[in-house]
Amino acid sequence: SEDKYEKVMDLARRRGYLWSSFEIYGGIAGFVDYAPLGTMLKNNIINTWRKHYIVNEEFYEIESPTITPYEVLKASGHVDNFTDPMVECKECLESFRADHIIEENIDIDTEGKTLEELDELIKKYNIRCPKCGGEFGDVKKYNLMFLTSIGPGGKRTGYMRPETAQGIFIQFRRLASFFRNKLPFGVAQIGKSYRNEISPRQGVIRLREFTQAEAEFFVHPNIKNHKRFKDVENDIIPLLPADRQMDETLSSEEKVINMSLKDAVEKGIIRHETIAYFVAITKRFLMDIGIDITKLRFRQHLPDEMAHYAIDCWDAEIYTDRFGWIECVGIADRTDYDLKAHMNHSGVDLSVFVEYDEPKEIETYDIELNYKVVGKVFKKDMKLVENALNNMNNTEIEKLVKELNENGKYILKIEDKEFEILSDYLKINKTKKKISGEKVLPHVIEPSYGIDRITYCLLEHAYNEEEDRTYLKLKPQVAPIKVGVFPLVNKEGMAEIAMRIKDNLRKNGIIAEYDDSGAIGRRYMRMDEVGTPFCITVDGRTLEDGTITIRYRDTREQIRIKIDEVINYIKNNIK
Ligand code: GAP
Repeated sequence: SEDKYEKVMDLARRRGYLWSSFEIYGGIAGFVDYAPLGTMLKNNIINTWRKHYIVNEEFYEIESPTITPYEVLKASGHVDNFTDPMVECKECLESFRADHIIEENIDIDTEGKTLEELDELIKKYNIRCPKCGGEFGDVKKYNLMFLTSIGPGGKRTGYMRPETAQGIFIQFRRLASFFRNKLPFGVAQIGKSYRNEISPRQGVIRLREFTQAEAEFFVHPNIKNHKRFKDVENDIIPLLPADRQMDETLSSEEKVINMSLKDAVEKGIIRHETIAYFVAITKRFLMDIGIDITKLRFRQHLPDEMAHYAIDCWDAEIYTDRFGWIECVGIADRTDYDLKAHMNHSGVDLSVFVEYDEPKEIETYDIELNYKVVGKVFKKDMKLVENALNNMNNTEIEKLVKELNENGKYILKIEDKEFEILSDYLKINKTKKKISGEKVLPHVIEPSYGIDRITYCLLEHAYNEEEDRTYLKLKPQVAPIKVGVFPLVNKEGMAEIAMRIKDNLRKNGIIAEYDDSGAIGRRYMRMDEVGTPFCITVDGRTLEDGTITIRYRDTREQIRIKIDEVINYIKNNIK
């Protein structure tokens, strides 16, 4: 029998939610088209996301290019680290994710295994190509980014962005000044991201082009509390901490603990309030759009599972019939990883001057340093050196002075580069001075949402079957069509009245559809299947007393109200 995924996708195809991309040319895995109703549903989900992040949480949204020059993604670590392990069949040349192929064949968890370990497993268990039975070559690193070039002649390398976040980080200097250098502040971006997945075989769950809604919350490096944590601290959340996942004595049910966010932070299960706060916001958003929250849990990444930029990450996982728990949102602590990387590679100072509540008196060094950097040094490197010298703390300065005095030179290390600094002339005074603040490189806490996965899960959770009908129990706020308007029969002016009601709803910004074809029962069924929460019918009694019926999708109950009350009634019920 068909599983739920097939049923949902069949409805989605027939009723205009999701279509396979490039279908008339045979289609390609990893791409999906949003059909008319799917586009409306997705937009309604995104607008609900905006209500949470832009309106309630006071983030500002930006929009940056999806094509990104090489330098940016080299600096961010994606060129070197954004890879999956891949194997190719020696015979049919088909490629596969090495870890997936192993897990499909033997009962071993491949999480965190190195390329060599995966290679060994494939050889040891003699795992063969599922397509042709051929032998596999060695496991290789495969970069997930789509490569492109900018301008004629392929002179400048670019990539399609693998996440929207980088667009925010590289504008950090301007953003900080937009927010008048006051931490914390939040910036969001919603848009397409691209990953050239090796062999996406999970339908709309693993796409090569997908939509992310990402929120980057910049905080002072020392401050991990959140000013609104009190509002959410009593929320009880199902958590799956890393240490429990690794505890073999626990059953899979026992690995999940339901606890308040307050307890989770106090017990050190979630490392700080800001991550916990966004766990709560994520749950509230998912609830708001209508995800079944009995099918929601938050799973912490295992230490070797983390992305290259993160020190901690909690995923919102949503349960689906075919794929089990799938990761839909990742809430990561990215520290100052990205800002530091872009500062080092661009030579632009990305620190923020944070004022103290009161000026502080500190011991400091006044150095006048007439230094020379030896070797071939580019202008960009010179900036790096200057930044590094200016950002030295007292201990580092003391070390520099000592080495210059003793050896006449100092080796300054910036990432993988070394600069030899000589000094002929050096004046140092230890002084006390009052300072009004300090320069800091902010840390970033990032809730990142995969809109396509969320949209699919929502469709699956809304999918309901009864003996005589199938219906999508979508919340009125996200349902694409809010009202179906029908004349009971196409005579005595009923059609004209129904058409007028439909027009009037549309004039008031409410998406309404007129339908007069086929028996009334069939028309209700069509609207049930696309998830329209209300149907209005104009009948014989309308002609006598000016009332119509409103039918509720979920209960099929009907009430009668006056035509002039329709707009307000619907408005109040779709809020
Ligand atoms: N900026 C952080 C980041 O990109 P991620 O965990 O790689 O983190 C965030 O992606 C979310 O984007 C995931 O939780 C998932 O919902 C969605 N996502 C990632 N890869 C995807 C793919 N190939 N197809 C569909 N959605 C994807």
